[in-house]
Amino acid sequence: MSAFVPPKRHTSRHLPFGDRRDAPFYGQHIVSVKQFDRDDLTYIFEVAHEMREMVMRVGSFDLLKGKILANLFYEPSTRTSSSFTAAMERLGGSVIPINEVRYSSVSKGESLPDTVRTLESYVDVVVLRHPQKGAAALAAQYARKPVINAGDGAGEHPTQALLDLFTIREELGQVDGLTITMLGDLKYGRTVHSLARLLSLYDVRLNYVAPEILRMPREIIAELEAKGIPQAEHTTSEAVLAETDVLYVTRVQKERFEDPAQYEAVKGSYVITPETMAQAKKRMILMHPFPRVGEISMDVDADPRAAYFRQMEYGLYVRMALLALVLGKA
Ligand code: CP
Repeated sequence: MSAFVPPKRHTSRHLPFGDRRDAPFYGQHIVSVKQFDRDDLTYIFEVAHEMREMVMRVGSFDLLKGKILANLFYEPSTRTSSSFTAAMERLGGSVIPINEVRYSSVSKGESLPDTVRTLESYVDVVVLRHPQKGAAALAAQYARKPVINAGDGAGEHPTQALLDLFTIREELGQVDGLTITMLGDLKYGRTVHSLARLLSLYDVRLNYVAPEILRMPREIIAELEAKGIPQAEHTTSEAVLAETDVLYVTRVQKERFEDPAQYEAVKGSYVITPETMAQAKKRMILMHPFPRVGEISMDVDADPRAAYFRQMEYGLYVRMALLALVLGKA
């Protein structure tokens, strides 16, 4: 897979009627969180906030009436796929869902570039989830219409990181000054890779709690070190729980292990229970990108600090904002 490609803009030749090409993010691919600076995030979150207000007030509105999204998923998804669908439909647009690529021409051996170039003949924006790291960047190299990375293997999940950061901001009021502890599968967990990179734009401290074989990748630690972000690694959460403002828990990603015995050895390494929460700050939030498979006991769900279901809802507003932005309507 090829390296990250900087986002590109539409040329006027491809400018659909009524779109504002001077709008920030118009025609851009969303491939990696590396493409954002802090001002970008502030702007996206302002738009997401507006989207939230609009959904609360009117439910749906016709900002993207006539626009079509292709939801192209080579891997399973519940939240990302359905929230992009809901986002497009709440904005008055429509969706071509390709959630089962085995029923598409992919099963006949069609390449990713050909599939994306086919879909963009019919739609205005493509959301892509793919098992290979770098797949979204590859698709973006070939696509004239915006490609949004909905997760590329163990690479990145930029829209999840944006909604995670939006969640922190909405729940705790600010990001600067916070201590964020990431716990679980930090090696294969693409959400934590993207989130750590986005958080490095702020004044934060990061703790990584993981089994030895699932530690945060060295290149991400080095990247953040170069930016002066304080980081510490642990194998248990006891030492860091009391200082943590955001506890971000991830699932051990069974599907990424080559050796099933290694998965068996580390699955169930951590379980957040009411006893864990008793040791945490009163104003801490507990997040998880979901699905969970036992890392957070359901006994914790009623704790007001359990933010993971609210986090899913924030995802709708962030994805509405992104769709509106890349289509030049915000
Ligand atoms: N958080 C997340 O990416 O969930 P899905 O795999 O259900 O899309």
